[in-house]
Amino acid sequence: MTSELEQLFEFLRFPSVSTDSRHAGDVRACAEWLVAKATSLGMSADLHETPGHPLVVAKNQHLDGRPTVLIYGHYDVQPVDPLELWSSAPFEPEIRDGRIWARGASDNKGQMFAHLLGAGKTIAEKGDLPVNLIFLFEGEEEIGSPNLAAFLKENRELLACDVIAVSDTGMVAPGTPTMGYGLRGITCCEVIVRGPDKDLHSGLFGGAVANPATAVAQLVASLHDAEGKVLVEGFYDDVRPLESWEREMWAKVPGVSDGDFTEVTGSPSLFGEAGYTAAEQTWARPTAEVNGIGGGYQGEGSKTVIPAEAMAKFSFRLVPDQDPADIIKKVQAHFEKHCPAGVTLEVIPGHDGRPYHVDPNGEYGKAAQRALKTAFDQEPVLIREGGSIPIIEDLREILGADTLLLGLALADAQIHSPNENFPVENFESGIRLNQALLEELGK
Ligand code: BES
Ligand code: ZN
Repeated sequence: MTSELEQLFEFLRFPSVSTDSRHAGDVRACAEWLVAKATSLGMSADLHETPGHPLVVAKNQHLDGRPTVLIYGHYDVQPVDPLELWSSAPFEPEIRDGRIWARGASDNKGQMFAHLLGAGKTIAEKGDLPVNLIFLFEGEEEIGSPNLAAFLKENRELLACDVIAVSDTGMVAPGTPTMGYGLRGITCCEVIVRGPDKDLHSGLFGGAVANPATAVAQLVASLHDAEGKVLVEGFYDDVRPLESWEREMWAKVPGVSDGDFTEVTGSPSLFGEAGYTAAEQTWARPTAEVNGIGGGYQGEGSKTVIPAEAMAKFSFRLVPDQDPADIIKKVQAHFEKHCPAGVTLEVIPGHDGRPYHVDPNGEYGKAAQRALKTAFDQEPVLIREGGSIPIIEDLREILGADTLLLGLALADAQIHSPNENFPVENFESGIRLNQALLEELGK
């Protein structure tokens, strides 16, 4: 195994699960390891405390007259459950079939570490980088970055930059260099429906009271028409229509045909808003999803009961120019209107983040495209992303810099799922990409 891979394995062995307070010590240990690593690669690095998990900032020597590039990544990971579905232990990385298997391999440790090692390699080879570089590594991305915006506001000078690069996104097909110029936004909520003040015998009382589980099912069903269009009033009011040049360009992108989506999802067939391909639906159209639903008896056999309450968790993916605060109000009004009689409704808003969109052909965008071509020896494709990284729009607002999304995670990387993986090849090309990117941005 190469020394680069050995170092990545060390990084992957930290169970830096941000959402689980039992892992707070592991998250911190991982941040401290990153500080030591960046220092050993020739940068000055510091750990910065937040009310939650710490941030790491690392820099090379900054000289006047050259651009400052900020590379953002996150070292926290999602929980591993269900553990029994993993083929190898999530925090004991392994290489099989040319891929690295571990929690965080793609999202985002493998990708961010390729950038760190790329910078270290250039420093070792040339004594310095062609740009002023700032690494900003977060330990709370997977829990919605609750403390990062405040840190940005308090550290505008420390983090002042001309352009930002982020590797926490996708690559459409193996070997196809991919630049993202958009991310969907998000807004979440939980709905609790309450009926009788205790669980009731469904024979003695069924028919005479409303069933909260039925009410939750009705609310869930009220969100879409039969073709998957969202029925919340005003939901599409601010959606920027897809442009024809975009549709034509995306039709030529490899790895994202409807057939590819069917295969990678393992669904019996695709389903969704009529008139759009799967790529268009996920990159440029807003959605409403139920992420969890519950209530009543879930155990073995049957239990004749009317549950006292039932719940569902929702997330809405948003596109330019939808505003999460506006959408959550519309969603709340929708649920209130559609809640059946005989129950009470509580809607608890959750975290949110604005959608992001940038011109892919600006000065820095062009430089990134040249770097992708150099690193992969192939013309890059330009896409938008279905996922969300809420801090990216905050970075633009607070630091005044645009972000280039240079992702290396494949569609079958199983991020957030068991058996997360990252091709060794992508780790190696990520190191090359960083070197080419800083070279191009420094010209
Ligand atoms: N890296 C992902 C987002 C992503 C993945 C974007 C692939 C584009 C392509 C990120 O870590 C993530 O999972 N974000 C969450 C955000 C949420 C917690 C606010 C998401 O998209 O669900
Ligand atoms: Zn993630």
